[in-house]
Amino acid sequence: MRHFQTVAKVGDIDDGAGAAFKVGDKMIAIFHVDGEYYAIDDFCPHMGASLGSGHLEEGTVTCPWHAWRFSVSDGTWVDNPKLKVGCYDVRVTGDDIQVAVPDEEAPPGYSPSESAADIESRDE
Ligand code: FES
Repeated sequence: MRHFQTVAKVGDIDDGAGAAFKVGDKMIAIFHVDGEYYAIDDFCPHMGASLGSGHLEEGTVTCPWHAWRFSVSDGTWVDNPKLKVGCYDVRVTGDDIQVAVPDEEAPPGYSPSESAADIESRDE
């Protein structure tokens, strides 16, 4: 399950820019592209720079440390599309920019499509 959490107000993020926000126990980068908002993990998988402070151009953010590039619409690493960072749904409700976040982190190995019997048989 997931829920939408307000992270910013309309006007807080300039068009063509991004910003990072603490959502639960992680940092999420929100980007404003031509009136639309997008959300991906803020943590660059290379060495941990904040993607929210990267350069945004044509729907792609460039990491400020070593220039890895990610699509803000789906988190794909542009230079190696087999890899991607987390991507989150965003909506605007009134003046609130809201991000969809999981209600709680699932334990490692957990899949909501698995039944309890599946998990028990896997662990034997
Ligand atoms: S930390 Fe992002 S490219 Fe190196």
